[in-house]
Amino acid sequence: MSLIELQEVVKTYGSVKALRGLNLSIPEGCLYGLLGPNGSGKTTTLRILSTLLEPDSGQVHVAGFNVLGNPRAVRTRLGFVAQDIALDKILTGRELLQLQGDLYHLRSSVKDLRIAELTARLDMDSWIDRRCGSYSGGMKRRLDLAAGLLHQPKVLVLDEPTVGLDIESRTTIWNLLRELKSLGTTILLSSHYLEEVDVLADRMAIMDNGRVIAEGTPADLKKELGGDRITLRVQEFSDENESEEVRSLLSSINEVSHVVINRSQGFSLNLVVDDQNVLPLIRQCLERAGFSIFSLSQSRPSLDDVYLRSTGKTLMDAELELAGKRDVKLESKKAMR
Ligand SMILES: Nc1ncnc2c1ncn2[C@@H]1O[C@H](COP(=O)(O)OP(=O)(O)OP(=O)(O)O)[C@@H](O)[C@H]1O
Ligand SMILES: [Mg+2]
Repeated sequence: MSLIELQEVVKTYGSVKALRGLNLSIPEGCLYGLLGPNGSGKTTTLRILSTLLEPDSGQVHVAGFNVLGNPRAVRTRLGFVAQDIALDKILTGRELLQLQGDLYHLRSSVKDLRIAELTARLDMDSWIDRRCGSYSGGMKRRLDLAAGLLHQPKVLVLDEPTVGLDIESRTTIWNLLRELKSLGTTILLSSHYLEEVDVLADRMAIMDNGRVIAEGTPADLKKELGGDRITLRVQEFSDENESEEVRSLLSSINEVSHVVINRSQGFSLNLVVDDQNVLPLIRQCLERAGFSIFSLSQSRPSLDDVYLRSTGKTLMDAELELAGKRDVKLESKKAMR
């Protein structure tokens, strides 16, 4: 049975189409990862699931309940840990959790027990009675996670829960998510970290431009890519035309597929090779055309390659492109003034 179900969901903000017919189905007990560059619609999706935002059209169900028809039933079964943390600075962490418990109508004894359990589990004992205004980013993240877990939700939705955390805090959160999963909680988390989704998620989706463009288990998505990945840089090329020439040379080799120029890394090239013995062929082909190899590395396919095949760019390139568009908008606004 699927605990989270979105069908053909559309959401626009004025002229911005944030979701363009999104379909997603998350089985019960699954730890599901949602990847995608900035602006691809992850937060919009999670806010709709959490009843904080209404879709323009489409069907959305959580734990069998329609989020529009029965938002209260959804809220009691779902915990949401938002991307932007807004904590009251005056309250202490404990007071904030108590307030959260009251909002969920938890009995006093249950509330105190849950707060004690979560304080110990998330290693918050030494600072839980300090005011939230004095917390570091990692402390805020942990407190926010505890608030989302207080009412023991069946479904936990987290928007980039480990962004900006040190390795120790990230590991604490990863372990907690694994533990919750083993107890039967269905978890949906968005992330920018390919590694995080790779190690944690049972299944995953890559979003781009308000739609899901790839879906499956991380292992299957990588396996679908077949051969090894090669990253290659040629000594001479420094601009797009030369890298384009090398790209078409390499594309003509039968055993080579998906040759993509990686703009964020000095016009290096990423390619997928079917045959382990293709390296001499690549060398010969380039040398004949007067190019010599500066660096070359070969590895098993990663989620970055899955992303590359789905979108034609790396996650990093997609984000640079978006940042570029923002800069152009900013420039044209300045010019209009
Ligand atoms: N309140 C809003 N008003 C107008 N546009 C919005 C609003 N919220 C989001 N958007 C736009 O909707 C699109 C999707 O945004 P969303 O926040 O869902 O993306 P995201 O995948 O979570 O991005 P990020 O990785 O940066 O968190 C973007 O183009 C964004 O600018
Ligand atoms: Mg977001």
